[in-house]
Amino acid sequence: MADRRSNLLKTLPPQHFVGLAAEVAALEQAGAEIIRLGQGTPDLPTPAPICEALEAALLDPTTHQYGPFRGQDRLKRAVATFYLNEYGVEVDAASEVAILIGSKSGLITLPQCVLEPGDGILLPNPGYPDYISGARLAGAHVHDLVLTEANDFLPDYHTLDTHGARLMYLNYPSNPTGAVASPAFFEETVRFAKERDLMVVHDFAYGSIGFDGHVPPSFLQAGGAKDVGIEVYTMSKAFNMSGWRVAFAVGNKDIIEAINTYQDHVHVSVFSAIQEAAVAALESPKSLRDDLARLYEARRDRLVNGLRQAGWDVPAPKGSFFVWAKVPEGDAKSFSQKLLHEAGVAVTPGYFFGTEGDRYVRFGLVSPEPKIDEAVARIEQLFAAYEEVRT
Ligand SMILES: Cc1ncc(COP(=O)(O)O)c(C=O)c1O
Repeated sequence: MADRRSNLLKTLPPQHFVGLAAEVAALEQAGAEIIRLGQGTPDLPTPAPICEALEAALLDPTTHQYGPFRGQDRLKRAVATFYLNEYGVEVDAASEVAILIGSKSGLITLPQCVLEPGDGILLPNPGYPDYISGARLAGAHVHDLVLTEANDFLPDYHTLDTHGARLMYLNYPSNPTGAVASPAFFEETVRFAKERDLMVVHDFAYGSIGFDGHVPPSFLQAGGAKDVGIEVYTMSKAFNMSGWRVAFAVGNKDIIEAINTYQDHVHVSVFSAIQEAAVAALESPKSLRDDLARLYEARRDRLVNGLRQAGWDVPAPKGSFFVWAKVPEGDAKSFSQKLLHEAGVAVTPGYFFGTEGDRYVRFGLVSPEPKIDEAVARIEQLFAAYEEVRT
């Protein structure tokens, strides 16, 4: 078979998750019962009122036609109202909102919209791996935004070399680390971005999921944030809508215009009935999102307390639905393989998220509590078996 992929496509990094899913599926086919804590897909269904809004919109034949290239005005207005109610941030629906076909596609195409080949882009390491794909498709150079436990997985702007970089991605609450940012950090980010002439993209995918009373702040709450950047908000996590493929970007109008120009040529926006459902989601009571955050918090407590009792001192994240745990021995690859093959627990090895993840694994909190309990019990047994061999 001929390799028809362009040289550009050949620069894309490996999609590690595809390999992991195949490995887990092969073990299951061979009869193993694997507890899947590796993936990051919300496990619960979309709330009924949102599904009902889709149903009603689907029966309206006007949604069957091409919609506006840049998305429905009604959805953009709902986004503006959501940002005002949720974060006290004023957003102009006409010029400061872009509707995205899922945030992944927005985040990955964005570098092409605002960078020239050869420009630098600062990407979190560890961070969401697909950001790198976006950089490669734009011919941009990836500069590591190194995030260490010692600095609470926040970048250290005092030592950060931004030479050649024009764009910086941030993501709090963070995938994979579960770290959160404070309003003061975002204020510092705006100052830093202005000083270094950087555009900022804040990926707010887990914005609705804070624990222990932490309410994740929006980057746009920082004074002057709209001068330097945008925030990308997905419906996938806050509303359990990962399959619906709908998200939006808000903020700096020049960046929004660049995204929309690209979209004018490549998409005719999200299916209008889904946009109607997204309006219903954004207008739904905040308690829906808060209840979901409490559910993840209970799962976090279950996992963290269980692992600590098993002798693995993992940190309790303040947000996202991930637990980022330093491996007790070896490296991420060997330890995650041991968990998979010897305990039947699938976790994500940290190197999927960059070199800084080499000594970590990521647990997803997207399985019900009994599954989490069973995973903990299996890990405890594995540790006990190794302890016995050692003594
Ligand atoms: C940090 C982060 N950003 C973006 C996405 C993409 O979300 P979606 O494409 O469903 O909007 C994910 C999905 O897991 C994520 O973890």
